Amino acid sequence: MKVAIIGCGKIGLDFHAPAYLKNSNAEIKYFCNTSIQKADAAVKRFNCGKAVRDYKEILEDPDLDAVSVCTPNTSHAQITIDFLNAGKSVLCEKPIAATFEDALKMQEAQRSSNKILAIALVNRYNNCVNLVKAYIESGKLGEVFHVYASFRDYRSIPGLGGAFTSREASGGGVLIDWGVHFLDAIMYCLNDPKPLTVSAETFCKLGKNINDYVYKNMWAGPPIKDGIYNVEDSVVGLIRTTGPVISFNGAWAQNIDHKEKYIDFMGDEGGIRFEFGNDFTFYTSEDEKLISYKPGFEKGNSFENEINAFVEAVENLIGGGDASLISDLPSDINTVIITSEIMQAIYDSAEIHKEVSLV
Ligand SMILES: NC(=O)c1ccc[n+]([C@@H]2O[C@H](COP(=O)([O-])OP(=O)(O)OC[C@H]3O[C@@H](n4cnc5c(N)ncnc54)[C@H](O)[C@@H]3O)[C@@H](O)[C@H]2O)c1
Repeated sequence: MKVAIIGCGKIGLDFHAPAYLKNSNAEIKYFCNTSIQKADAAVKRFNCGKAVRDYKEILEDPDLDAVSVCTPNTSHAQITIDFLNAGKSVLCEKPIAATFEDALKMQEAQRSSNKILAIALVNRYNNCVNLVKAYIESGKLGEVFHVYASFRDYRSIPGLGGAFTSREASGGGVLIDWGVHFLDAIMYCLNDPKPLTVSAETFCKLGKNINDYVYKNMWAGPPIKDGIYNVEDSVVGLIRTTGPVISFNGAWAQNIDHKEKYIDFMGDEGGIRFEFGNDFTFYTSEDEKLISYKPGFEKGNSFENEINAFVEAVENLIGGGDASLISDLPSDINTVIITSEIMQAIYDSAEIHKEVSLV
């Protein structure tokens, strides 16, 4: 299977390319980046493929089977749709798109092309997340009635004034960047309950005067003093579903010197605190005693699991068949689109300062 990496930045080169190269069924044919120097550097670094500047140059290559779309959020939809329409399968980075409307267009292109469209919501390939899901499904927690996610950091807005803090480039702030992983992992572990209502507020506060903002972390590039800051740096919300209630509190930046990233699954017989990206603790009672423990599991490599599953699905498609039957990928667009619907409802609710109904 021949693939192209579209977008030779951090995720494309540090995660997608190495994982394809480890898979003996995949070969990287192109590295594409609008600034061709980055594509050239990728060819040199991995010693394979050809550098291209414009993805449209390779759309019609009959030899190309699939692409990884690793470009900024607001470009996901157009690039993905163009490749699907050209008959290529696509693994698109998260979030699906900047808006639910665009995500629906991507879903439509997948259906009409009958190619595979997977979204790189990588937690679905994380061994720890899968063990949390198995605990919930086995009934160890009893009835899970509330799930709470916290993704907060102390004065840690990324690339202030650049693409991360420009709605035009990113579609949003901490919700679309960090929150998407948390909400999607929750939906996955709960087997996608139907969202009923969403109530949320977003705040664009700490970085709004770029020159005065004092920071602890400035990841993703130095602050651009005359840049743009029009996304949320914190968000809070509550989602009612046909299953548990989901609540969350997220902040790239807050005036509290504390960093926490976890999801609490609260059941009437047991509870789980999942320390995001690490492990989890299970709490319950047994023989009239309170007990808690951290289950062991093989850590694995979520990105490799994700790429291997995508390659296998595309290989099956090349072998002949119907994408809608072949793709039982946990990150198939038709499964994960619900996360995009919820995120849109969060932004909509925040904009009108009212609850949004999804039924
Ligand atoms: N799954 C994860 O955990 C994870 C982690 C980081 C980033 N991401 C996602 O990956 C995407 C990229 O993030 P990143 O951190 O690698 O960003 P980045 O800025 O490091 O890389 C993006 C690259 O895409 C290039 N580019 C922009 N438009 C292009 C186009 N039309 N054609 C070709 N190249 C183009 C840019 O020049 C840049 O080199 C984002 O959507 C982000 O949300 C996911």
